[in-house]
Amino acid sequence: MKTPLSKPYVTQEIKDAVLRVIDGGNFILGKECEAFEKEMAAHTGVKHCVLSCNWTAAMYLFCLALKKTGKLREGDEVIIPSHTAFPSCEPFIHAGAVVKFVDIDDTYTVDPALIEKAITKRSVGILPVHIYGQPCNMDRIKAVAMANGLWVIEDCAQAQGAKYKGARVGSMTMAAGFSFFPSKNLTVFGDGGAITTNDDQLAELVRKLRNHGKRDKFTNDMIGFNLRFNEINAAIGRIQLRELDRLNQGRRDAVALYRKLLGGIKGLVLPPERPGCEPVYHMFVIQVNNRDKLAKFLAEKGVSTGIHYPIACHQQPAIKSLYKSIPSLPMTEFVVGRILSLPIYGEILPEQVTFTCDCIKEFLKA
Ligand SMILES: Cc1ncc(COP(=O)(O)O)c(C=O)c1O
Repeated sequence: MKTPLSKPYVTQEIKDAVLRVIDGGNFILGKECEAFEKEMAAHTGVKHCVLSCNWTAAMYLFCLALKKTGKLREGDEVIIPSHTAFPSCEPFIHAGAVVKFVDIDDTYTVDPALIEKAITKRSVGILPVHIYGQPCNMDRIKAVAMANGLWVIEDCAQAQGAKYKGARVGSMTMAAGFSFFPSKNLTVFGDGGAITTNDDQLAELVRKLRNHGKRDKFTNDMIGFNLRFNEINAAIGRIQLRELDRLNQGRRDAVALYRKLLGGIKGLVLPPERPGCEPVYHMFVIQVNNRDKLAKFLAEKGVSTGIHYPIACHQQPAIKSLYKSIPSLPMTEFVVGRILSLPIYGEILPEQVTFTCDCIKEFLKA
């Protein structure tokens, strides 16, 4: 049965919205962007949302805002899990920070005890990544940060809408970054991203920096960039946001079925769920010994899978050529050879999940 790994939410309403914006004749940072920012801030539970062309751009602008306010200086250290998408570390490196990669625990999220161990006199901040849509252990991370005077920025690229003890991810720390890349839980059918924060000054700086440092149409307060957002993507994002909680529930329902059908099978490790959380399963990632053979077997049956990610950040050539000493991160290095992402999206059919599980059982002779 043909089953894609992920599938964006598309409706006639979305297509109509695109045409409406085209006919309206206003394409960049207009009313749709303004409304999307307000609605996203309200959904996340924060004061400000600032849209930019993608997560990487939004986070880079935020890093520059941190530099302008003295919260980040050349050579400062930022602690980031290595088990994440490579972009997680890029904005900080571009901004002159040194990234200290740390290991994960069995939830695939950063291990707070290892953050504590990695702290030095140069450490200024932590970027926990809510990877696969699973909220990190925020109580522990925030306690470590508080005890050491560090800021925390959440990487919510894979977790929009998830909750940690009732709070939305992206609302619990100094700031957070979101991505609307086509495979994400909320997409705008192209690149897109945002920063959320309760800090008025940092939000204002990011707003200016994304648009040539402009105060108004013809006055430039600072040297900025063109890293703006456009109206078509904002109109799409607004509709996607209205459906996000329902679609995330669809993902959770699919995961419940995966767990029911795959639970207890020898040789298969299912991802644990952090108690008290509402994950949004951007990915449903299993571990298995013959990962590549299973992926090939599933592909032959029409079931697409993925590996997120086959090379950990600390083992990427770009990082090896940047830093002299690279730590070994046993858990990250162990899982990269075993993880396999199974099909998951908001409107995946129970038949597709059941068929995928039947194929896995056939492969494992379970
Ligand atoms: C965890 C994580 N952080 C950051 C990013 C970067 O997002 P973008 O592609 O919008 O720059 C991604 C997307 O791949 C991601 O999954």
